Amino acid sequence: MPAPALSERSGCDVWLKLEGCNPTGSFKDRGMTVAVSAAVGEGATAVVCASTGNTAASAAAYAARAGLRGAVIVPEGKIATGKLAQALVHGARVVALRGNFDQALHLVRELVDRHPVALVNSINPFRIEGQKTGAFEVCDQLGEAPDVLCVPVGNAGNVTAWWKGFVEYQVAPRLHGYQAEGAAPIVRGAPVENPETVASAIRIGNPARWEEATDAITSSRGEIRAVSDAEILDAYRFLGEREGVFCEPASAAGVAGLLRYGAEGRVVCVLTGHGLKDPTTALASAAPVVPSEPAIEEVERAALGGE
Ligand code: F0G
Repeated sequence: MPAPALSERSGCDVWLKLEGCNPTGSFKDRGMTVAVSAAVGEGATAVVCASTGNTAASAAAYAARAGLRGAVIVPEGKIATGKLAQALVHGARVVALRGNFDQALHLVRELVDRHPVALVNSINPFRIEGQKTGAFEVCDQLGEAPDVLCVPVGNAGNVTAWWKGFVEYQVAPRLHGYQAEGAAPIVRGAPVENPETVASAIRIGNPARWEEATDAITSSRGEIRAVSDAEILDAYRFLGEREGVFCEPASAAGVAGLLRYGAEGRVVCVLTGHGLKDPTTALASAAPVVPSEPAIEEVERAALGGE
């Protein structure tokens, strides 16, 4: 989707890739449908993942569809409400870990070593194969590759997948990856033990595909930088109020990065997940509702303000 307000503010020709339009509301579906199909092909009866929320929602949905059992391990109290609801509605066993995502991922790796269940985190190569199709679609839809792709980075599977897609498409846009300041291990060059950010989806301190992500960014002559929570929320509100697009906070990190650090030419910002995933953050950062008695003068005052 073209982004006229963002183009005006940034001075670039900005487009948005709305990954929130996928079946469970995030880009994870691109890879999850492939990973779960492969698991079925290999005779698995259950899938498992660690997740900040979206992978869990997607794994639960595709496992349900395939008739597999699903278990998801999430950091307790740190995943957005919509994602939790999705995982539960799809019948997955949801484990609230008293720990963070990095610990959850470590534990699921151990779990699959001990039991014949399929791991569907993005360390699973089928996930990358599915997710690379985002790159094909962007090039097909624009008629050519963009100059720059802005994308949030968490566990670093997605930036890896986009680059694989571009390489296979034989194009080479610059990849601009953005981490949240409180969860920016790749930018700092060292793991972050207690990552913190309002963008709960990318609250990750030790990304599994760290090296591949660094390779992708270097090969594309791109960059990886950090943005603050305030910048993320500013971009989040700007998208909602000026572009009419509701994404989740992590998704706004790519736009926040573009606004802070700039870029040149035609830029695609990947909005990785839908805003409805995280109603709590939405309501906390929006204006309050206006109460009114059921009388026309009251409604006039409430609806039109001082006009
Ligand atoms: N944006 C959203 C909305 C995400 O959910 C994630 C990752 C990312 C960006 C970052 O992608 O990890 O491939 O670098 N979410 C994972 C999850 C970690 O468990 O749902 P990444």
